[in-house]
Amino acid sequence: MQADQTVGVVGAGMMGAEIALCFAMAGHRVLLKETCLELAEKGKGRLDNVLERLTKKNRVDAGDKLQILDRIIPVDKYDPFSDAALVVEAVFEDEQVKKRIFHELDTVCPPLCIFATNTSSIPITVLASAVGQARIGRFIGTHFFSPVSLMELVEVIPGLDTDEETIEEVMAVCRQIGKTPIRVKDVTGFAVNRLLHAMWIEANRLLEEGVASVEDIDIACRLGLGHPIGAYALMDLTGNDLNLQVQQILYDAYGERFRPRPVLKQMVNARHLGRKTGRGWFRYKPF
Ligand SMILES: NC(=O)c1ccc[n+]([C@@H]2O[C@H](COP(=O)([O-])OP(=O)(O)OC[C@H]3O[C@@H](n4cnc5c(N)ncnc54)[C@H](O)[C@@H]3O)[C@@H](O)[C@H]2O)c1
Repeated sequence: MQADQTVGVVGAGMMGAEIALCFAMAGHRVLLKETCLELAEKGKGRLDNVLERLTKKNRVDAGDKLQILDRIIPVDKYDPFSDAALVVEAVFEDEQVKKRIFHELDTVCPPLCIFATNTSSIPITVLASAVGQARIGRFIGTHFFSPVSLMELVEVIPGLDTDEETIEEVMAVCRQIGKTPIRVKDVTGFAVNRLLHAMWIEANRLLEEGVASVEDIDIACRLGLGHPIGAYALMDLTGNDLNLQVQQILYDAYGERFRPRPVLKQMVNARHLGRKTGRGWFRYKPF
């Protein structure tokens, strides 16, 4: 894909807005689509702060900020997607909503436009069934990580009918925007969530058995395993409600080894969800 080709991003929430930013930083014109123009503009508006942080980390030149933001065009309709070379969908994790969007996009986008979904838990092959046979080989999963502007990994997940050429094109696009793609099969949790939740469930077992405290498990992760952040600090960032939901999905798919631990259920029942509620495994100052 050429750097000047148009990319469409559907959903300007936590993931979509920063996905749009990554493409804009690599030179692409990006259409950022939301349910209304106000939300699309709000999503773009949040990128000011993100760019500020990236500038401080020397990842973006201060002088390039305006030019990058100018490449992102908030929209509330699909008509401008008629010249998109790639669309990345990042709306709510709802199968029917995502399918409706892909069905509509299929009627507007050029025949060779690649459709990518950022779903965390819905099988790619299920979402691919929303497009016609002519597009199905161009449908793929691209699982970005939060915060997208900082996290380098993208899991690239072909569905059952994804063409080999599409996989190679998407791996190349990921590299072009500065990410490192890995190819992963279309299984529940893909690769990273299986690794992560296996560790978190074991951390909760250690806690329940009184083997080590929350604080000490986090120290073990950072100083013994070289992780940049402790298991519990990360759980508080992602939110215990979402963590429990993902473990339930993994449990349904793989059985006993992913059964969520009672201690996590208790945290969710108590609304100790993490940073967003001011209390999780740790306490936080109110925003
Ligand atoms: N949050 C994470 O850490 C994370 C990580 C990897 C993948 N994901 C996946 O990314 C996707 C988005 O997650 P998020 O955390 O950004 O959600 P979010 O709730 O922050 O944003 C979703 C956005 O989609 C918009 N939307 C809904 N319907 C739409 C439509 N028809 N057209 C355009 N926009 C529409 C909503 O208005 C909202 O702004 C989900 O599939 C999620 O599973 C999330």
